[in-house]
Amino acid sequence: MATSPKKHALVFGATGLIGWGVVNELLSSYPHPGVFSMVTAVANRSITASGAHWPERSPEIPELQVVTGINLLQRTSEDLATKLKDCINDVGSITHVFYTVFVAINEDSIKEAETNCDMMRRVAEAVNSLCQNLESFGYGIYIPNGIFTAPLEESMADKLSSDYAKTVAYPGYRRVLTEASKNRSWKWSEICPDAVVGFSPIGSNFSLALHWAQYLSLYAYNHGVREPADYGKVQVAFPGSEGGYNALFTPVSTRSLGRISIHAALNSDSCGGRILNAIDHGSPTQFRGLWPKITEWFGLQGVGPAEECQLKPSEYIDKYRSPFEDNGRSKAVSAGVGVGNRQLDSVGWWLEFDPQLSPDKLRASGFEEESNPIQGWLKAFEKFRAAGIVF
Ligand SMILES: *[C@@H]1O[C@H](CO)[C@@H](O)[C@H](O)[C@H]1NC(C)=O
Ligand SMILES: *[C@@H]1O[C@H](CO)[C@@H](O)[C@H](O)[C@H]1NC(C)=O
Ligand SMILES: *[C@@H]1O[C@H](CO)[C@@H](O)[C@H](O)[C@H]1NC(C)=O
Repeated sequence: MATSPKKHALVFGATGLIGWGVVNELLSSYPHPGVFSMVTAVANRSITASGAHWPERSPEIPELQVVTGINLLQRTSEDLATKLKDCINDVGSITHVFYTVFVAINEDSIKEAETNCDMMRRVAEAVNSLCQNLESFGYGIYIPNGIFTAPLEESMADKLSSDYAKTVAYPGYRRVLTEASKNRSWKWSEICPDAVVGFSPIGSNFSLALHWAQYLSLYAYNHGVREPADYGKVQVAFPGSEGGYNALFTPVSTRSLGRISIHAALNSDSCGGRILNAIDHGSPTQFRGLWPKITEWFGLQGVGPAEECQLKPSEYIDKYRSPFEDNGRSKAVSAGVGVGNRQLDSVGWWLEFDPQLSPDKLRASGFEEESNPIQGWLKAFEKFRAAGIVF
């Protein structure tokens, strides 16, 4: 395998929840300064390096190129290759691809799976024609809910029924990449998270941290919690059921997820052709422990599920969003709108089935880092506030 001395990472979906975290860890010089010399962040939306809130440019960190306006739905693989060649400096030096794009088509899961596989095929063909030094192609996915009993082992992903398999993209992803990597020097790896916790500069329809940050920020504001003297006096109930409050799950911060993706990419001998579960900590956690700390950050006192009916977070945000508009948080307003919010509302209920992921393969691959899951929430909240998305 031809290994180039300095590595060049190409990240698709760089403004999304997972892609942003991968770029952020690469620019934080994970795993060591000097491993990557260049990071190319590709997005469909227009964004600037400063608007993305990544680490500031400095001689110690990899150089960043931001390439926007790449709509993977529209192009053939030849068009895409031409476009990437025109827009990316030194495209031939790309060694590692991180693919985090996902298009949700809510009403048609078969079409959703096909659309997402087609996009990945175009990308794989384009990088095959452009990048002769490619070493790995990694992608992150969302785990489908409610099929297996905990703890989930990566091998269960191979045992999906064929009817079900047509409705999720990732069995197709593996076929596409196994085919595209035949006779090539690179390997694919799949990174499989449970709940992903982190920041994204444009908001995300899949971000529970953003959804709850908006909810709790408005809730605190509307209940007069504005200064430290007001902190801890207003209670807010967990938006879910008793079962959801107590269920075991294994969240992952985008920091851990980014690092695990990079670890897998750099160790394709042990991680290539494999699925790795991504988690913050080997032992599962519960909202019972997290909720009081999550709400405390907003000056609120988090308590268990309410007895009586109350507004779901998205209903609350819809009804009371005007303080954001009145106080120049226009980004907050747009970030919160979307079909995904209804789905995020249900998290406190659907977690009842204990979908925790097994850490065994990840540890066996040599990734030993553990972090406290609350850190991912608090880091994301700080970023949302600094970016002017919440109070
Ligand atoms: C890219 O953006 C265009 C214009 O906003 C949108 O129509 C298209 O669905 C986006 N593509 C993807 C892959 O999300
Ligand atoms: C694989 O590589 C061999 C040797 O370079 C070549 O003869 C063969 O045609 C290649 N197969 C494919 C499917 O590209
Ligand atoms: C969320 O979904 C809505 C509707 O499906 C879409 O218009 C919006 O662009 C999405 N937002 C993000 C940040 O992806």
